[in-house]
Amino acid sequence: MGLYGAAGAAVLVLLAGHFSLSSALEEKKVCQGTSNKLTQLGTFEDHFLSLQRMFNNCEVVLGNLEITYVQKNYDLSFLKTIQEVAGYVLIALNAVEKIPLENLQIIRGNVLYENFYALSVLSNYDVNKTGVRELPMRNLLEILVGGVRFNNNPTLCNVETIQWKDIVDSAYLNNITIDNNSHPKSCEKCDSSCPNGSCWGPGPQNCQSLTKTICAQQCSGRCRGSSPSDCCHNQCAAGCTGPRESDCLVCRKFRDEATCKDTCPPLMLYNPTTYQMDVNPDGKYSFGATCVRKCPHNYVVTDHGSCVRSCNAETYEVEEDGVRKCKKCEGPCSKVCNGIGIGEFKDVLSINATNIKQFQNCTTISGDLHILPVAFKGDSFTNTPPLDPKELNILRTVKEISGFLLIQAWPENMTDLHAFEHLEIIRGRTKQHGQFSLAVVGLDITSLGLRSLKEISDGDVIISKNRQLCYANTINWNKLFGTKSQKSKITNNKDEKECRTLGHVCHELCSPDGCWGPKPSHCLSCRYVSRHKKCVEKCNILEGEPREYMENLKCLQCHPECLPQVMNQTCTGPGPDKCIECAHYIDGPHCVKTCPAGIMGENDTLVWKYADANKVCQRCHPNCTYGCEGPGLEGCPTPGNARI
Ligand SMILES: *[C@@H]1O[C@H](CO)[C@@H](O)[C@H](O)[C@H]1NC(C)=O
Ligand SMILES: *[C@@H]1O[C@H](CO)[C@@H](O)[C@H](O)[C@H]1NC(C)=O
Ligand SMILES: *[C@@H]1O[C@H](CO)[C@@H](O)[C@H](O)[C@H]1NC(C)=O
Ligand SMILES: *[C@@H]1O[C@H](CO)[C@@H](O)[C@H](O)[C@H]1NC(C)=O
Ligand SMILES: *[C@@H]1O[C@H](CO)[C@@H](O)[C@H](O)[C@H]1NC(C)=O
Ligand SMILES: *[C@@H]1O[C@H](CO)[C@@H](O)[C@H](O)[C@H]1NC(C)=O
Ligand SMILES: *[C@@H]1O[C@H](CO)[C@@H](O)[C@H](O)[C@H]1NC(C)=O
Ligand SMILES: *[C@@H]1O[C@H](CO)[C@@H](O)[C@H](O)[C@H]1NC(C)=O
Ligand SMILES: *[C@@H]1O[C@H](CO)[C@@H](O)[C@H](O)[C@H]1NC(C)=O
Ligand SMILES: *[C@@H]1O[C@H](CO)[C@@H](O)[C@H](O)[C@H]1NC(C)=O
Repeated sequence: MGLYGAAGAAVLVLLAGHFSLSSALEEKKVCQGTSNKLTQLGTFEDHFLSLQRMFNNCEVVLGNLEITYVQKNYDLSFLKTIQEVAGYVLIALNAVEKIPLENLQIIRGNVLYENFYALSVLSNYDVNKTGVRELPMRNLLEILVGGVRFNNNPTLCNVETIQWKDIVDSAYLNNITIDNNSHPKSCEKCDSSCPNGSCWGPGPQNCQSLTKTICAQQCSGRCRGSSPSDCCHNQCAAGCTGPRESDCLVCRKFRDEATCKDTCPPLMLYNPTTYQMDVNPDGKYSFGATCVRKCPHNYVVTDHGSCVRSCNAETYEVEEDGVRKCKKCEGPCSKVCNGIGIGEFKDVLSINATNIKQFQNCTTISGDLHILPVAFKGDSFTNTPPLDPKELNILRTVKEISGFLLIQAWPENMTDLHAFEHLEIIRGRTKQHGQFSLAVVGLDITSLGLRSLKEISDGDVIISKNRQLCYANTINWNKLFGTKSQKSKITNNKDEKECRTLGHVCHELCSPDGCWGPKPSHCLSCRYVSRHKKCVEKCNILEGEPREYMENLKCLQCHPECLPQVMNQTCTGPGPDKCIECAHYIDGPHCVKTCPAGIMGENDTLVWKYADANKVCQRCHPNCTYGCEGPGLEGCPTPGNARI
């Protein structure tokens, strides 16, 4: 059976606002659509059933509409409900006589077939030369993006008469390919009432409606007749029944209840009293080309306020105030993986050349990590080649190990455990021999380099027989331990005196808690202060670029809108409201690069401000609808722009 048809049609209910005159509920049924191109899913019967499951009852297709491999005598009448397709339409390799897309009004072309085509009608005939005769798309008035291609449809009637430049956007006029061998003799002619003889089929109901090429010059887009008063609003697609943005047949961008808009009502608004962006109680999310108060069940909200099926790779899903949202991950997104000895790694001895790829992007290891000599030697018994040392970098995303970390082999020419430099915590919930949560034995490294390690929650530490290793004995392990009973055993590494002679000692900016290696970024903690995890002597408070403030002995940057002060502090904290002086302008408590200009505020009004002589943002006169350069009506740019 077709796996692809699994997602059925979802129902989206749009409630009209309570102040709207129309109290009618408007309901549009949406479906996902498909991306199978010319792939056949199972038998002709399976393929048809999966098509029917996907599009039955669907009005708006969020992806592509693909009608393929439909054989003679199948009934496609369920396609009559479809009004909108957001991606492309592909009609190919069908032998069925009629494809009744009678109510399709718009193809948005957000995705194109073969890079150029929003509508492709290809090879619709079978071995017996029966095939598609009727394609009565009499309501198709608009293709927003993409061209049209008709190839090899020897039995198709009437469609060669269609004037595509009324439907297709002018940017795609070069991408209209209609082959000219298809005039089956048995076709009925277009009705004599059709404009210039253009029709989708016989009878007056199948005449092509023209809504662009017939418009008066004054019209910016579509029209419902040739007089200048027949122009549609420029938010309309396809056509209209009147001049307003609520009279469109279909919206070009977004539909908010009955009105077509460029964007959905914003989720945040500028609040002129607090000088901040606040949540807009009337904000809406975009779902396809509609504005909705809530995303449908099983959808999540992106940071742009659109409803999507799942968060993309750089974001993760969270629930906030009852809304499921996608949030940007800080660093790599969290991913929990099994450790050695668990799940797919049961009975595995070590991370090795075969399994290391399965640790890609892992941030948390549930279980233990073992790196044994067999990894680098390879193992003929389990048919494992030697591990390429470069592959160890895959482990760099690991921040947390719930069990223990055991390292008994490491590439000879690598001086520290660089692959674990982002490891923050070893929980020690399981221990090697029931005792150790960190064991580093018999390596040639000169320093451990575990500079992010902040906690070893349970279990003892053994660092032993690493003949070149310095620094390990400088570490105050008790600072890392989570319990009082934990012990560290640091033995048989390089002699401490020899280390000192070689200058392998902690950097002077480190505190006496010791270090993981020679650099100021290797300190367990700092003697003075730190900047980006590196120890420094002092913060750039009075001088130095960029200027900083200090919090918990960390140097943190002032907001870029703060004006650097000479021999004085520049800011008292993060954020543009903590500057001593602004670099550009000040809006309430906030330093800003420019005063708010045309930002959406309450009641659908735009907020405009100008900067006065003291560089303070002041509100324009309410009648200056395009902003101002000064106070009062005189500040409006030209008298003509003032609202009278
Ligand atoms: C083609 O016609 C023959 C004879 O009428 C019939 O047996 C065969 O099933 C037809 N093939 C298709 C694909 O319809
Ligand atoms: C589509 O039109 C563009 C611009 O006119 C042209 O560069 C491109 O080759 C066309 N593609 C096809 C497949 O005709
Ligand atoms: C298509 O073919 C017909 C008949 O062969 C011809 O009259 C007509 O001009 C052709 N149209 C185009 C667009 O090539
Ligand atoms: C019909 O065709 C004529 C001549 O080809 C053209 O001038 C006219 O604009 C067309 N009318 C419409 C409605 O497309
Ligand atoms: C290497 O990894 C593979 C896949 O996890 C496993 O089957 C094999 O036993 C491992 N070999 C050793 C020596 O750990
Ligand atoms: C790892 O993450 C990168 C970037 O987010 C992504 O492109 C890649 O497909 C991921 N690989 C695996 C195996 O998860
Ligand atoms: C370590 O040695 C290997 C092979 O001998 C070499 O390919 C690699 O570049 C060396 N790495 C370093 C960090 O020196
Ligand atoms: C430093 O800034 C404070 C607060 O703005 C101010 O009172 C003080 O006079 C400034 N000192 C110097 C030396 O500019
Ligand atoms: C917005 O409208 C409400 C209710 O009509 C009113 O109380 C409020 O003052 C208006 N706000 C602004 C900024 O005009
Ligand atoms: C501002 O516009 C309103 C209505 O548009 C008008 O009533 C008022 O007189 C105008 N104010 C000034 C000072 O022109």
